[in-house]
Amino acid sequence: MSLSRRNFLATVGAGSAGIAVFPLISARGREALSAQQPGNPIAQRRADRALSSAPGMIRIDSNENPNGPGARAFEAMRSTFPDANRYPVVLEDELTAEIARTLGVKPENIMLGCGSSEVLRSAVQAFTSPARALVSPSPSFELAADYARFIGTPVKSPRVDAKLRNDLDAMADAAKGAGLVYFCNPNNPTATVHGKAAVAGFVDKVGKSSPQTMVLIDEAYHEYVEDPTYATAIPMALDNPRMFVARTFSKVFGMAGMRVGYAVGRPETIARMKGWMLGSNVNQLALAAAKATVGDTARIADEKKKNHEAKVFTTKAFASMGYEVTPSDANFMMIDIKRDVKAFKAECIKKGVAVGRPFPPLNTYVRVGVGTMAEMQKAVEVFRTTLAG
Ligand SMILES: Cc1ncc(COP(=O)(O)O)c(C=O)c1O
Repeated sequence: MSLSRRNFLATVGAGSAGIAVFPLISARGREALSAQQPGNPIAQRRADRALSSAPGMIRIDSNENPNGPGARAFEAMRSTFPDANRYPVVLEDELTAEIARTLGVKPENIMLGCGSSEVLRSAVQAFTSPARALVSPSPSFELAADYARFIGTPVKSPRVDAKLRNDLDAMADAAKGAGLVYFCNPNNPTATVHGKAAVAGFVDKVGKSSPQTMVLIDEAYHEYVEDPTYATAIPMALDNPRMFVARTFSKVFGMAGMRVGYAVGRPETIARMKGWMLGSNVNQLALAAAKATVGDTARIADEKKKNHEAKVFTTKAFASMGYEVTPSDANFMMIDIKRDVKAFKAECIKKGVAVGRPFPPLNTYVRVGVGTMAEMQKAVEVFRTTLAG
């Protein structure tokens, strides 16, 4: 065995994680394991975010909340700072209890994550394998699919339909024999949503045709939904051990840089994922901020209102340029600009506006996040001149 391969095995350990990853080393070479490699999706995303972090850039590329975490969160972090030298056990319990209280569930239904990203990863790890595929539509939030490929899990990716909605029939078909279905609702990047009945029907169908398959409903953008037929899938997740919900503090709560998310499900479902999570995965200050704001319904309503106004403004501006915005139930929108999105993005970056990266196969669509009204007013002028060129 070569020295470098021996080092790698020592790093991942001799347990099941090492065994799961091993075939990939032979298949792709160990360089593919490095997050710094140019072809690696994490490296690509970092490079993209580094571009959008340039001074003065209008950052509407990553579906973040431009208004930040707010005063309550700041005060909670300030008063918790003296406890930053301690491991965060008590606050973990307190945030869990506060989330449970807000959602009307029990603390044992909640599992905290370092962002919902950690929940998604642990789900892929717990429920898929080389023999049990992941179903993740195309396009959708890629994290689950990227991680599945990394650990050698096959990925089935039914394409969204002509209205850019997740194709639930195709997903249910693909789910037969799969380990996990990733169902992002509303879907990132298309911003389309399915109503309560459609989600329930889908879960029921998968449950009947493939009883071993788990369904993960990612509700990262839940608070922004305006479609009256929509409802959270949390009540279903409390009943059904074959499904669970992921939520995050990165969007409406404005804490993407603080890394807090959670899963909601039955205790036995949570238990299957928990072993893959890092202990003390959320830092003390983030726990305090999340605890102080999770039940702040007035602020959530205000964020939703601001998002709606800036979204309507931007939608009208695109319409005036002759481009239709796909109906959006999130803090971002998809527009068919009928040209290569990569070149459009590069041009907008030069003019100080960072929009979303390309989402193949929708190569002529741009994902535009909703910034503040002032930001969208400036961004729209950049879109106008760029699209006129
Ligand atoms: C649908 C969806 N799920 C999960 C995440 C991950 O969010 P975080 O790890 O910040 O909670 C994102 C981030 O953009 C997302 O769009």
